Amino acid sequence: MKNRCITTPIFYANSVPHLGHLYSVVLADVWARSSEILNEKPILFVSGLDEHGQKVFEAAKRQNLFVKDHVDNICMEFLEFFGKFNVISDIWMRTTNEDHKQLVQQIWADLQEKGYIYKSYYEGFYSISEETYLTDVDNEEMTKLAMTNKNIVFRKEECYYFKLSAFEEKLLNFFDENPDFIYPKKRYNEAVGFIKQGLKDFVISRPKDRLIWGIDVPNDNDQVVYVWFDALINYLSALKYPDKKYEKTWKNTIHILGKDILKFHAIYWIAMLIGAEIPVPQKLVVHGWWMNGENKISKSLNNATPIQDLIPSYSSDGIRYFLLKGLKLGEDVEFSEKYLRTIVYSELADKYGNLLARLLGVLKMRVSSRRLRKTRNLNDENLTKKFENCVQSLKSFNADITKINDYVESWLDLVNEMNLYFSKNEIWKIDDQFEISNQLYYLLDMFKKSTILISPILPKTAKTVGELFCINCTFDYMESPLPDNYDQFNELLFTKHFNFNG
Ligand code: MSP
Repeated sequence: MKNRCITTPIFYANSVPHLGHLYSVVLADVWARSSEILNEKPILFVSGLDEHGQKVFEAAKRQNLFVKDHVDNICMEFLEFFGKFNVISDIWMRTTNEDHKQLVQQIWADLQEKGYIYKSYYEGFYSISEETYLTDVDNEEMTKLAMTNKNIVFRKEECYYFKLSAFEEKLLNFFDENPDFIYPKKRYNEAVGFIKQGLKDFVISRPKDRLIWGIDVPNDNDQVVYVWFDALINYLSALKYPDKKYEKTWKNTIHILGKDILKFHAIYWIAMLIGAEIPVPQKLVVHGWWMNGENKISKSLNNATPIQDLIPSYSSDGIRYFLLKGLKLGEDVEFSEKYLRTIVYSELADKYGNLLARLLGVLKMRVSSRRLRKTRNLNDENLTKKFENCVQSLKSFNADITKINDYVESWLDLVNEMNLYFSKNEIWKIDDQFEISNQLYYLLDMFKKSTILISPILPKTAKTVGELFCINCTFDYMESPLPDNYDQFNELLFTKHFNFNG
């Protein structure tokens, strides 16, 4: 039983996946894998697809497809795309699943019974692209906008409201009592700021004559559930709520999300949970954006480099490493192929991959019959320190996902130190067969250990290196002896970029 859980947002099934989506699933995947290699408390990894709503309906219409066929196609695309990067979730949610639909209706009915959902009218402006009623905007301003912007229309229609206004105090108390509920702190402050501005009830249904592609509102044939009300509940459907078996897992659940969907998670979702008397999850981890110039990379701007096309040049592991190294959790950063190339080549290929090539090169050239025998233990103080620091950072990351950047940094420090040791001790010049054997054993062993430490981020590389050293890349093998015969080493490994160019 996995008692900890990580979720990513469920992705809109209106377009193909891109780098921004990949970031959150890679982060979740790496976190779940860190438990596996450390033999720590296992982590359930949940991701999926948000398949209802206007945007998805329109996307199907544009392609002349039945909506269900369209979402099935998109689902395959997402799974294939993530699969190319070795991202493996335990649960792949789809909001068109029957169980999920029933749970949405059950929670709706419960909130309605408790008096938090009521029927009324909406009269005002509506943004088609955002699928949102524009309740917070100045009417005069809107009228002007609506005259020029086809995306904004005036509407008067029957609908259901969620009584968010009833939760102001409860939410403020909740955030007061849970100051670490949102990472980073600036997003916590932003959420508290929203509440302090005052909360208005929000519309949680759409009339069926305008949108049929949604979950039916219980006991009302004319309305479907608003896509966000539906989508947020996926997190509970994934854990088979109200099955008691998952109660602990739910309380230990961390939601990863981008900063653009903070309000939905920090305010609407938490209010829905409090209203339905369902425990809240453990934490929200809010990341920033991969940018293209001034803009967020997004499907609507069509400004995303097809990242899967870059696998032949940088490898799937190289891109996974880049995503986590290149973006400081919580900040924004500009994506460019140059940035990707710099990180993958200068850190993975030149420092990590090339070190192995050099060690094996020396072994091949200078050690007779390529047999390694250790006759004494070596222990370099700096190297040991960097190694222990990296072990500690990995453990801290496993205990707290927000430590991802420290973990990657500490690993790079270790790799730098290995290179320094190699050049400082001029390993390639040593003549004595015992001494060179001991030195190579020491460095190859450290290389093996460094691979175990980075294996959550580089699963494919770890598999190759594991085969060389006849191990699985987990902590169980940290202290296992190295094989003494290196005849089996594949010549390919001597190439400069090791495994990072495809
Ligand atoms: N369907 C909703 C989420 C519902 S969760 C109950 C949604 N989908 S989305 O496909 O538009 O976005 C999914 C996630 O991808 C969001 O967390 C969003 O922040 C993230 N990203 C989309 N583009 C991004 C970047 N350019 N950079 C980083 N992440 C961004 O919102």
